[in-house]
Amino acid sequence: MLIKKINELREYISPYKSNNESIGLVPTMGALHNGHLSLIKAAKEKCDRVVVSVFVNPIQFGPNEDYNKYPRTLDADYELCSANGVDVVFSPSPAEMYGEGNILSNDNLTYVCPPFSYTDKLCGKSRIGHFDGVCTVVNKLFNIVQPDLAFFGEKDAQQLIIIKKMVKDLNIPIEIIGCPIVREDTGLALSSRNKYLTESGKNDALVLSKILQNIRKCYKQGITDIEYLKETAFSFLNNNNVELEYLEIYDSDSLECTKFANDNSRAFIACRVEGVRLIDNIKLGD
Ligand code: PAJ
Repeated sequence: MLIKKINELREYISPYKSNNESIGLVPTMGALHNGHLSLIKAAKEKCDRVVVSVFVNPIQFGPNEDYNKYPRTLDADYELCSANGVDVVFSPSPAEMYGEGNILSNDNLTYVCPPFSYTDKLCGKSRIGHFDGVCTVVNKLFNIVQPDLAFFGEKDAQQLIIIKKMVKDLNIPIEIIGCPIVREDTGLALSSRNKYLTESGKNDALVLSKILQNIRKCYKQGITDIEYLKETAFSFLNNNNVELEYLEIYDSDSLECTKFANDNSRAFIACRVEGVRLIDNIKLGD
């Protein structure tokens, strides 16, 4: 079932709630690929009913980001969801979510803002306000759907950590399930933004997962000094087509920075390839 209106969604799923069926929510921005599908499958396994939201959220994009050109493939997304047993695809318009008018202004919208210590690093550093936009829309989706469980990918590890923090801090009665990163055989993490890359760009993009795998390998060999682990990346970065934005190692739950890595440390990387911003991460321990 494809639903575009908030009140219709509420009406449609209210019998699920009266029957005490568990509801799983998979929030997405569409252009669905096997990474999203893995979240849908996890939701199908754990929940009686699955709602997938498809909404390119304007308030999480900066003024110079790709909001207008972000791939929108609702028909194909709906087909994929139906073929995989999704009960409802919820795809509201920006006006349905935020009302008519200048929705990109924060003059007239209540925002949910995660703590600065979680957003002053990694993607939050270059994408000012991004996680305010993410937390605000996820909170709205939580209130609209009122799921029992919600599924997020480790691909966006900072996002997952911040959402877990929001749920804890705001006592939101929803269990957050993190799902592993789905990769191509080459190691490239699946992303809707891979669609912007040429074949040679995709090839250049392999450097992200190679750097991360090498850091994990060095850690497994006993190197724990974080500065040293980060330096192991330099030998991979001799390709002018790849511009490093950040490479950091932080705690997987708190995003705290330490001098030495442990099994709960995670390496995070962001690079630009052919003007496309790509991110990836890996946990150093098992
Ligand atoms: P989007 O980029 O569409 O991603 C939706 C979900 O799919 C996120 O939880 C993301 O981590 C997960 N995902 C994407 N690629 C993945 C991969 N290769 N392996 C595993 N999971 C993957 O993230 C967003 O949308 C938005 O910020 C959203 C949470 C929907 C709020 O607007």
